[in-house]
Amino acid sequence: MKSKCETASWKRVLTSVAIFTTLAAASIAAPESAAAQKPGEGKISLGQRTLILPAPVWIICSYDSSGRPNAMTASWAGICSSDPASVTVSLRESRYSFDGIMARKAFTVNIPSTRFAAEAAFFGTASGRDVDKFRATGLTAVPSGLVDAPYIGEFPLVVECRLSGTYNVGSHVMLIGEIVDVKADKSVLDGRGVPDMAKVDPFVFATGSGNFHSIGGSLGSVSELRDKIGK
Ligand SMILES: Cc1cc2nc3c(=O)[nH]c(=O)nc-3n(C[C@H](O)[C@H](O)[C@H](O)COP(=O)(O)O)c2cc1C
Repeated sequence: MKSKCETASWKRVLTSVAIFTTLAAASIAAPESAAAQKPGEGKISLGQRTLILPAPVWIICSYDSSGRPNAMTASWAGICSSDPASVTVSLRESRYSFDGIMARKAFTVNIPSTRFAAEAAFFGTASGRDVDKFRATGLTAVPSGLVDAPYIGEFPLVVECRLSGTYNVGSHVMLIGEIVDVKADKSVLDGRGVPDMAKVDPFVFATGSGNFHSIGGSLGSVSELRDKIGK
């Protein structure tokens, strides 16, 4: 009779052989299929879905009807105009935040650093209808002096917005926010006085998997990279 130890080492040998055989088969097959495939071929249709990578992770802050600060995570969002500087964020009307933003015509966009990933997950899964999210996370709601909404004191970069328009798309209503001011911690600014990606340390949302991802290093400036094409 074999000892437990012997059986385990045989299992390891058999697993290694199986992995080696699979890898060997793949390395033989790969050059042929790569040569046969033209760019664009081999794509699989995934259907009419919002599978865009990556999506931003913004925390939208507003006051509710009793003046209590609330925060929700939004990824259906982006910059939509340079002049006037504006952002867009799409909300389902059922979100508790929705009525507060519509009533006070204001919201703030708060950019979390990776150390606030758990708070961002919480803001995106708990509703202000049921829980005081600022009390639960211990984060600080700072009243904006410019718009009727709070911002998160601990986050490195915040954008105060006046609601300038709405557009009903379908499941979501697109809110357009004219940027009234951007506030940043001095510690996250670069030599030119603009927010530095590495210092702000934001993260993104992978729509398909539902995971948050950190952002890698710089690939170079657009003008440097453009020169590589040379034309
Ligand atoms: C990563 C992530 C992104 C989200 N993006 C949006 C979004 O863009 N629009 C939206 O209406 N809800 C979005 N949600 C869901 C809301 O954040 C969630 O329903 C939240 O509980 C709403 O809070 P409230 O009811 O306090 O307003 C997202 C959730 C997560 C986790």
